Amino acid sequence: MKKLSDFKKASLGVFPTPLYKLENVSAALKTNVYIKRDDLSGVGLGGNKVRKLEYLLAEAKDLGAKVVFTTGGAQSNHAMLTAACAGKLGMKAVLILKERGVTAPLGNLLLERIMGAEVIFNDTDDFNEIYAQMDEIGKKLGEPYYKIPLGGSNALGTLGYVACAEEISKQGVIFDHIVCAEGSGGTAAGLALGAKLFLPGARVHGMTVSEGDFENTTLTLMRETAALLESGINISANDFDIKENYGPGYAVPSEEGNAAMRFLAEKEGIFLDPVYTGKAFAGLLKMAREGAFKESDKVLFVHTGGAGGIFAVSSAD
Ligand SMILES: Cc1ncc(COP(=O)(O)O)c(C=O)c1O
Repeated sequence: MKKLSDFKKASLGVFPTPLYKLENVSAALKTNVYIKRDDLSGVGLGGNKVRKLEYLLAEAKDLGAKVVFTTGGAQSNHAMLTAACAGKLGMKAVLILKERGVTAPLGNLLLERIMGAEVIFNDTDDFNEIYAQMDEIGKKLGEPYYKIPLGGSNALGTLGYVACAEEISKQGVIFDHIVCAEGSGGTAAGLALGAKLFLPGARVHGMTVSEGDFENTTLTLMRETAALLESGINISANDFDIKENYGPGYAVPSEEGNAAMRFLAEKEGIFLDPVYTGKAFAGLLKMAREGAFKESDKVLFVHTGGAGGIFAVSSAD
């Protein structure tokens, strides 16, 4: 089996991110809740994409890319962090975003404007159309370019969260449960594969933030990443748990998500976002209410960032 250190990695973030117990939340839920602060990953306003981009942009650099393309929703945190990380490595980011939701220069779009990233809107629901548009523009540019898929979720990007699991294993607490938001799947898949390698006994729960077949997405990403590592590990749908938590839909705030945002802000002074982490933490609160955690359990919430969304997507109600 290959080691994580066999893969080239650009140094972009500040790692390890802090991991500590949420004392007030633990007392309220009658279990032991910890947080992994990947929202403090050290680039932009922080977030999970930095770990994936360390692997993806190292490959882009290696291939001589001058331009990096990616895509997402109009308020994509991934697109914003791709612009931040590409710029740091001397590459230009071109972001082709779906013209849906909040397209005014607020939140992540404002941050992208500050960074001078090029944003192109496409009024489509089809990401394949956007990938074709990347090739069209890339060819016209006549410079080497690199395409990063939605959310940075291919096998190479997913390695970032296998590495995160290894990092967690060195932070001194043995976990029974790990909870994270699940959008394009790389974070949950990387953590679930990483748990098999470095955190035996920890069950990963991916809290979905949109409609979709996440069991299949997670399984495929885990298998492709295990193959990239030449690990020979057998992977099945029993290796993780998926829970639906998207409420009214992707990027539409939910009552439970907003309540979870207020709860964590009031109890611990930590801000979640309305699109991903608020809904994911609401999923953790629901599990606690339903008795999924024992008093002695150690539960880790991976805070995957999303701060830009707080200033664009309403969460005050
Ligand atoms: C703040 C935040 N949390 C979680 C996720 C979900 O991560 P993944 O796409 O790896 O499933 C995203 C994805 O964009 C995100 O921006």
